[in-house]
Amino acid sequence: MTELIDGEAVAAQVREDLTGAVATLEDADVTPRLATVLMNDKQASETYVSMKQRDCEELGIAAEDIRIDADAPAAELFDTVAELNAREDVHGILVQDPTPEHVPDERVLSAVDPAKDVDGFHPENVGKLVAGNARFKPCTPHGVQKLLAHQGVDPDGKEVVVVGRSNIVGKPLANLLVQKADGGNATVTVCHSHTDDLAAHTRRADVVVAACGVPELVDGDMLSEGAVVVDVGINRVDADTEKGYELVGDVDFESAKAKASAITPVPGGVGPMTRAMLLYNTLKAAGEQTGVDVTLP
Ligand SMILES: NC(=O)c1ccc[n+]([C@@H]2O[C@H](COP(=O)([O-])OP(=O)(O)OC[C@H]3O[C@@H](n4cnc5c(N)ncnc54)[C@H](OP(=O)(O)O)[C@@H]3O)[C@@H](O)[C@H]2O)c1
Repeated sequence: MTELIDGEAVAAQVREDLTGAVATLEDADVTPRLATVLMNDKQASETYVSMKQRDCEELGIAAEDIRIDADAPAAELFDTVAELNAREDVHGILVQDPTPEHVPDERVLSAVDPAKDVDGFHPENVGKLVAGNARFKPCTPHGVQKLLAHQGVDPDGKEVVVVGRSNIVGKPLANLLVQKADGGNATVTVCHSHTDDLAAHTRRADVVVAACGVPELVDGDMLSEGAVVVDVGINRVDADTEKGYELVGDVDFESAKAKASAITPVPGGVGPMTRAMLLYNTLKAAGEQTGVDVTLP
């Protein structure tokens, strides 16, 4: 019997577990605060930002929603980030991806104060993660690690294949899982678009994480019997629905479910965990910046 890994339920549990940290900060007269900065016109980005704002408010984190016209000069974004860096009442800063072409990603990632970089993408924080001393674990990889833990899947000694090597998912996840630490100690293979014979790698994996942005790329034929499958993908594909599309993952759910011992759905798998781990990082940032000792789950 294949188990469905319920990301909504685990994320709700993480949020519940974080209420103690909010209370500890409140007792010390600290209101944790996240500022999101959106500089694009994409509907999906707008939706992500709105959800993050709502999540914060529901947990008791103050949320500031800053919008910058996509045509504005790059300096407007960098000035905004500099102001947020300087504000003592702002503990976390998230610049929603993507920024317009005239605002290079790399400069944006380096502009955020590493202590407030709740995405965990600043080069200093990437370095700390690789060195096994993470300040902020990037939200999606951290969410995947938590999901595995809640599912009772200890990566220790297991073969994990990560399909995708992006800086926001594949690479940081591989780095987390390979650390000599709880939730790590896996033998990790990272596959990408130049990988020869992807299926040969995924078929020997105990755990397959698909994060390639290719709808339903990983199917049941590519899995070993009893594999654990984590689908990070979120792809809109044309469909005969009211919206004209449906969301599918990077895994062909039905064929993979027939082989897997446990699998995440899309939606309702990794997505809610990403959002929950942003709350986690914001509270961690608030604790560290104010010297309040918060206990995080
Ligand atoms: N659930 C969440 O919270 C969440 C968060 C972030 C992203 N996502 C979703 O996760 C997916 C991946 O996101 P991303 O930002 O990491 O994507 P990305 O930046 O586009 O990276 C995709 C990675 O997959 C690799 N790839 C592409 N086609 C492949 C193939 N045929 N075989 C093997 N590898 C292949 C690429 O290889 P190369 O490096 O060689 O190009 C690249 O490393 C997307 O569907 C995205 O929407 C979900």
